[in-house]
Amino acid sequence: MKFITDILRRSPSLLGFILLGFGTFFGTLCAEERPLYQDASQPIEKRVEDLLGRMTLEEKLSQIHGDSKFSTPAIPRLGIPVRWLSDGPHGVREDIGPHNWRPSGHTDDFATYMPSLCALASTWNLDLATAHGNVLGEESRKRGKDIILGPIADIVRTPLCGRVYEYFGEDPFLTARMTVNYVRGVQVNDVAACVKHFAGNNQELGRATIDMDMDERTLREIYLPPFDAAIKEADVLAVMGAYTKFRGEHCAYSDYLINKILKGEFGFQGLVMSDWGGTYSTREAVLGGLDLEMGTLIPGTEKERPYEDYYLAKPFMEGLKNGEYPMSLLDDKVRRNLRVMFATHAFDTDTRKVGSLNTRAHQATAQRIAEESMVLLKNDGAALPLDATKINSIAVIGENAVRHHATGLFGAGVKTMHEITPLEGIVQRVGTNMNVTYSVGYSERSGSNFVERAVTAARQADVAIVIAGLNHSRYLDDEGWDRKNLRLPYGQDELIQQVVKANPRTIIILIAGPAIEMDPWLKQVPAVLQAWYPGMEGGTALARVLFGDVNPSGKLTCTYPKQLMDSPAHALDTYPGTNGVLFYKEGLLVGYRWFDAKNIEPEFPFGFGLSYTTFEYSNLKLVAGIETNGPVVTAEFDIANTGQRAGAEVAQLYVHQENPSLSRPIKELKGFKKVSLKPGEKTTVSIPLDERAFAYYDPAKSGWVIEAGDFKIQIGASSRDIRLQDNFHLAKTTVEK
Ligand code: BGC
Repeated sequence: MKFITDILRRSPSLLGFILLGFGTFFGTLCAEERPLYQDASQPIEKRVEDLLGRMTLEEKLSQIHGDSKFSTPAIPRLGIPVRWLSDGPHGVREDIGPHNWRPSGHTDDFATYMPSLCALASTWNLDLATAHGNVLGEESRKRGKDIILGPIADIVRTPLCGRVYEYFGEDPFLTARMTVNYVRGVQVNDVAACVKHFAGNNQELGRATIDMDMDERTLREIYLPPFDAAIKEADVLAVMGAYTKFRGEHCAYSDYLINKILKGEFGFQGLVMSDWGGTYSTREAVLGGLDLEMGTLIPGTEKERPYEDYYLAKPFMEGLKNGEYPMSLLDDKVRRNLRVMFATHAFDTDTRKVGSLNTRAHQATAQRIAEESMVLLKNDGAALPLDATKINSIAVIGENAVRHHATGLFGAGVKTMHEITPLEGIVQRVGTNMNVTYSVGYSERSGSNFVERAVTAARQADVAIVIAGLNHSRYLDDEGWDRKNLRLPYGQDELIQQVVKANPRTIIILIAGPAIEMDPWLKQVPAVLQAWYPGMEGGTALARVLFGDVNPSGKLTCTYPKQLMDSPAHALDTYPGTNGVLFYKEGLLVGYRWFDAKNIEPEFPFGFGLSYTTFEYSNLKLVAGIETNGPVVTAEFDIANTGQRAGAEVAQLYVHQENPSLSRPIKELKGFKKVSLKPGEKTTVSIPLDERAFAYYDPAKSGWVIEAGDFKIQIGASSRDIRLQDNFHLAKTTVEK
């Protein structure tokens, strides 16, 4: 031995040679022992096939259904980790279960409570959509979640829908843009986003049983584009099927929606999961394209079905064994599940992102979104912003001034470290310089003299601020239940009328999803601000808008009707369906498309929102594209801030076709841009339009027709405030599949 060490000491190169030999030997050995699927440098598809080939039948089946409320099991033999799913769109939900919906009581499941998606959309700021998704992605990773169940990419068809506050609005173009950026923000963090609820799900009432249908064009032009975009532009990894049926088939395993369109036409390679308890049949689920079954209940009860009895568990296994189903069907489902795991680096523990939770940066993003989302609906006589140097006292009124909204029911709730209420935000903003009183005014729980006391407080103050709106109680903004009307609950209409009589300087703040009927008091009050559910920093954001530290720049993403019956589904009496069947009679005329076509004056139109400054639009030029794959035309125009304050404007581009072969909505949103301008500043905005901006879907051709002819390009500050327009001629007709 001494002899060998002597030689080595004298001859280090020999040592190197020997070590190299050993290294190569062990390296080869390890490479042989380390299966290909464990090698992060291999392409995903190779890894999927390699792992799939090593799995037993039982192991494969274990990966296509839940083994708790929100997980699928580990397979230690193969190093497959537990996979965790979690709601939801507004923050990583608190841990529950594992086998029931009760909070688990963990102490490490707090998360940033973001503004709701209706707020995010109202910013019309796509960078903020990415930032919102990024918060969800980073926090999911830190909390060990692999798939986050959001965003909702459905379209607001009726303002009564209990989940409109979780939607991006009534327009497919805007919803698609928001969805794409949100998904990208999530998925850069090695977390899968899951767009839901595919497709055409627009009401909570009867959601488990309703069988809906619409004409093919409406499906293609209104309800599918956000999902299509999420797949083609953001590579979304998961899709959740809706509870509802579509043309007689459950959406989560509708052969038409899932196999033909989603996986066929759109080329979706990720996994399709059921909504919780949304699977009812093995055969249909197997054949209809469902890849992951979650939350199945014992039929007719609210009790969790034993996991081995899930439709895609034992009953599927029996069918595979007796030859009812080919093994390729199972393999396809497992492949899709594995693909998502590899794409999110679930096996690459050394390099997988680790995420971060409850950071100051996340809270700052929540605040920024809240600030940019608030929509100033009315501001007579420059009632807002409030000048803190000229006000001595404020009466803050309303339950929503002190109510927390984070812990909503079902999927949209978040366990937050704090939630700054409007009252706290106002008190913090004004400090000790002002006398701020609070009176409840109205409440979910009835009480005596609420109105009287609020009126007295309002009378004694320089300014009254009523923090009105809804909450997540049943029949308000609540999953599983639609609203019954668009009125404010708990006698708020009466309260507001009384308060404004006592103090004409009354500001109304609405904490709610869209939309609210304001007829009883709108004319009497000088100012209304729609503040949505603004998240954990909402009170601070609100105070900053009220006192002018922030100039409001949000715009509506849903039309506010003067009365419910003005909106399409209700005017045509196609809500909530008859005997469980619902046909979308309004077709393409959803939201502003309906109000335009029927010439109905909305209370507030789609795209509307005021500012503390003013903007002037000028100089529209349409620059025809010359590159083959470039834009068909680019609209260029100037916007100038003509007021005294810095502010941001959302310029919207609508396309109108003259004499189309198939009738089309009068105008459709096809572009937008948000620009920030200092007082007196002017900038040139350019919005490029591709061929799709001009297309309609022709069912007879099963494709998108971009028809030669004349178009109007309209630039507006809202859908009803068109500031500039010009004609554009398309020379050639093309059809795209
Ligand atoms: C909702 C989904 C949610 C799921 C899990 C369902 O009731 O419709 O949006 O992701 O529950 O909580």
